[in-house]
Amino acid sequence: MDDIERINTGVSNLDDFIGGGIPRGIDIVLHGEPGCGKTTFAIQFIREGLRNGENCIFVEMDILPRDLRTKMQLLGLDPGQYENSDKLVIIDGVSGKRLGASSNEKFVIKDPRDLNSIAKAISDARQMLGTGGRLVIDSWASIALNFHAEYRGLIRFTEAFIVESRNSNYTTLLITDFSIDDKLMKILRHITSGFIELITKFESNVKRRYIMVHNLPFTFHRETPIPYTLGNAGIRITEGRL
Ligand SMILES: Nc1ncnc2c1ncn2[C@@H]1O[C@H](COP(=O)(O)OP(=O)(O)OP(=O)(O)O)[C@@H](O)[C@H]1O
Ligand SMILES: [Mg+2]
Repeated sequence: MDDIERINTGVSNLDDFIGGGIPRGIDIVLHGEPGCGKTTFAIQFIREGLRNGENCIFVEMDILPRDLRTKMQLLGLDPGQYENSDKLVIIDGVSGKRLGASSNEKFVIKDPRDLNSIAKAISDARQMLGTGGRLVIDSWASIALNFHAEYRGLIRFTEAFIVESRNSNYTTLLITDFSIDDKLMKILRHITSGFIELITKFESNVKRRYIMVHNLPFTFHRETPIPYTLGNAGIRITEGRL
């Protein structure tokens, strides 16, 4: 054991492979192809935080918040209960993509293509909840899609976001997928601290899934792929404890 304060991922047994959990307050890129379970991982991460009384923010850039709530419910998390008690904020970064569309959500990104608008919504949520907690951007890749080739503003926004998350002690997951080009991925990995990849492979015509922890600060982590399955109960590690 070490002196680093760690939080459980919410993916049972994964913590055993990463020194007991994720160092509190750091930022991690969670990367993988569509359908590999990134959102599922993120929901389990948030569910764990809420069960431990932490503040949680889910920045939803891909699906409507009501569909996210359904996904949460399927994974045994009742979001309404935590939203009503000001422990969970779901930020709607989707409704504003359609010009003139309205949203009944309390936290809405007015213009999801505008980084200031995104930053403001996140800062409002942090202010309401207070310091210390967990934050997910699902997905950072969707934000980046609007900035092909001209990354300066996006990088500045992301760096500021990371510093603010660290200062306010929010442990953060930035979700990415293969829509991001190699150059941007390299920059993102340079400015973030951790990198976890969900890998899908066909072995003898069977789909196999693995979690690969490439980099996790302050942590001696497993250096080889950790097998998992994706099902009703979400992500489950299929290898025994270390
Ligand atoms: N309740 C469930 N029961 C069984 N399988 C499920 C369930 N929910 C999701 N899945 C499986 O998990 C996969 C998607 O998981 P998830 O949404 O976490 O992936 P993702 O990596 O976030 O995908 P995307 O890149 O499209 O956002 C689905 O393709 C489905 O096969
Ligand atoms: Mg997803």
